[in-house]
Amino acid sequence: MKTGIDLISFYTPNYFLDLKVLAEHRGVDKDKFYLGIGQEKMAIPPPDEDIVTMAASAAEPILEKIDRSSVELMILATESGIDQSKAAALFAHSLLELPRRCRAVELKEACYAATAGLQLAASWVKDHPDKKALVIGTDIARYDLRSPGEPTQGAGAVAMLVTTEPRVLALDAEYGLYAEDVMDFWRPNYRDNALVDGKYSMLVYISALLESWKQYAERSGRRFEDHARFCYHLPFTKMAEKAHSRLMKDVGLTPTPALMDALLGDSLRYNRITGNTYTASVYEGLSSLLDHCTDDLGSKRIGLFSYGSGCMGEFYSGVVQPEYRQHLFTERHSRLIAGRTELTYQQYEDIFQLGFPTDGGEHTFAQYRTGPFRLAGVSQHKRIYEAL
Ligand code: HMG
Repeated sequence: MKTGIDLISFYTPNYFLDLKVLAEHRGVDKDKFYLGIGQEKMAIPPPDEDIVTMAASAAEPILEKIDRSSVELMILATESGIDQSKAAALFAHSLLELPRRCRAVELKEACYAATAGLQLAASWVKDHPDKKALVIGTDIARYDLRSPGEPTQGAGAVAMLVTTEPRVLALDAEYGLYAEDVMDFWRPNYRDNALVDGKYSMLVYISALLESWKQYAERSGRRFEDHARFCYHLPFTKMAEKAHSRLMKDVGLTPTPALMDALLGDSLRYNRITGNTYTASVYEGLSSLLDHCTDDLGSKRIGLFSYGSGCMGEFYSGVVQPEYRQHLFTERHSRLIAGRTELTYQQYEDIFQLGFPTDGGEHTFAQYRTGPFRLAGVSQHKRIYEAL
């Protein structure tokens, strides 16, 4: 029985900062960001947007196309959680008017958790082929101002419908895993911004890739050449290029610029202009590939590498379904990206410094441009959402 991604939808906030503006304010050459890490813009959520509104905004276009009552499992993956106890999935479940008879939970393992969610959902639908699962990765990547991680910030969400009749990507059964207890990136409960050992994190990412590829290749018997394209976890696009080039050398191939661009280029386009979307990023890459690739990828196999600091890596694959183009949200994605508003440096820093009210009082948030849902305020420590 096939299982996999039936529909995939991406959302990113309506505001961004151009990294050349950040470079001016940090006194560095803009090409350190544009070329050195391969990033041009970072998405900035306005104060009335959070991981819940982004998750719901990503999922709504999918749910408009199906019978919502068939969704009996909802997994929301995030590492920018808003509550230590209540799952963000339940807020999104309510905004999306999903059925009460639904298992709704939040999953965490840094940027990897949406992949755990996808694999768990794929196994679950095998046992319940008449039901559907909704898996969402949603995150706001934040580092301290003026830290090396600052230009890799970003925000966005990807929602995926998982079924036994996937119209976009059928997952292969084989996967390779790598788990190790390391401190490359973390965010203690008392901090809003992540801490990271940047150079070390890049080394761990690459060793997790090589190890998980090894197990995947042994189990599946597939070679590198059996994959038409690759999608990587994208903390910044240069990371994927470095990792992919290393993997190619490891399997005895030469990573020429033309080959690298052919295998990876289309998957990097959204990330370059949104920044890191943590749990969503490998699926943002998949969405970018499917939306931009001019070759017909139908019946072609895609290799995917998901990485979460801490760390957890997984290499897996899937076959693009023949009529996939009819089931994408390409136009919607391109309207969203084209309609974004550029922020000034001062607006970026003002939003960054705003802080979330923690006094337990009544707070109403000013209305900015969001998707179909917004965070209207907070009352006695309870977030209040509204559909527009
Ligand atoms: P840095 O140390 O400030 O940058 O921050 P750098 O000095 O290494 O420069 C970056 C690149 O730009 C270098 O290229 C420079 O040569 C080049 P490389 O040597 O690496 O090929 N460069 C220039 N190029 C052209 N023109 C110029 C110029 N100047 C310099 N004028 C660092 C880099 C990645 C450390 C930082 O951005 C950081 O800490 N980022 C956050 C951590 C991160 O993203 N790690 C990635 C792996 S871990 C991961 O993916 C998990 C994560 O997503 C979280 C999770 O799982 O939960 C982060």
